Amino acid sequence: LRRAMSTLPKVFVTRRVPPDGLEILRQSKQVQFEMWDSDDPVPRVELLNKVKGCDGILCVLTEKIDAQLLDAAGPNLKVLSTMSVGYDHLSLDELKKRGIRVGYTPDVLTDAVAELTVALLLATSRRLIEAAHEAKIGSWGTWRTMWLCGHELANSTVGIFGLGRIGVAIAERLKPFKVKKFIYTDVAPRPELANMIDAEYVSLDELAKESDFLAMCCALTPETHGICNWNLFSKMKKNAIFINTSRGGVVNQEDLYEALSTGLIAGAGLDVTTPEPLPTHHPLFTLKNCVILPHIASASYTTRNAMSALAANNLLAGLRGEAMPKELQL
Ligand code: DGY
Repeated sequence: LRRAMSTLPKVFVTRRVPPDGLEILRQSKQVQFEMWDSDDPVPRVELLNKVKGCDGILCVLTEKIDAQLLDAAGPNLKVLSTMSVGYDHLSLDELKKRGIRVGYTPDVLTDAVAELTVALLLATSRRLIEAAHEAKIGSWGTWRTMWLCGHELANSTVGIFGLGRIGVAIAERLKPFKVKKFIYTDVAPRPELANMIDAEYVSLDELAKESDFLAMCCALTPETHGICNWNLFSKMKKNAIFINTSRGGVVNQEDLYEALSTGLIAGAGLDVTTPEPLPTHHPLFTLKNCVILPHIASASYTTRNAMSALAANNLLAGLRGEAMPKELQL
């Protein structure tokens, strides 16, 4: 048995993953795997050591998969499976160069992320966190005519930066709130998706100028890095609500702070920041019109289990040399 075990492909799982994925790996009897059995990231030095000689790695978004790590893993490494839809933590060039196949987890988290985005948008625009706090600390005097007024979705224009599965799912959920118009920008028009939500393709300039609500739904790439900067915020409406559930890196946070604190825009809801966790002394935390969540958009029991199951299935299929359920084309 020991000999049979030792010939099985070796896998390192960089974090304690939800039970469904773990079960798939165990039941497969296809791999021998070691897991970093903690809710906290594996220290880098430990990680570099653990991946040595591995055929596969299952990671999460806190692990930087770069040349150093791939060199540490060595030539046996064939498959990298990330339990995330985002892949900005992966050096794709380095993976491609080494012929390593990559799995990721799109689709299974679309509903959860869209739902949370809508919740964050409403919490920000209708000032829910601020209002609950005021009630709790005794500032609730009498009913007042303009106290804690926010901005409503009815008759608004919603802008989507980066129209993919998630952007469409957000728009579908917002439509019943009587949104007047959906507009979007992307590297090129995406008519098939846009038709599903009756969204109009506009330039980034127009998106900034016309949106009452602007939702960031793009991947973090060199092109989108820091794209939400002073230049963009200064074109936006004073009543605009900015929502980011993509990656913190798309926002220039100094510029966002200026825009929020000077009333250039009305509010921001952020599920992602740079860095993560955002230090508690960060200036953005001092602003009443900024709602900050700790990267929880996909955090439902169902979705996190589905992500771990898909990540496990991607890994196993890749190691068998078969097509992965969701493979990233490098
Ligand atoms: C992802 O999958 O990339 C999210 O950020 C976490 O679910």
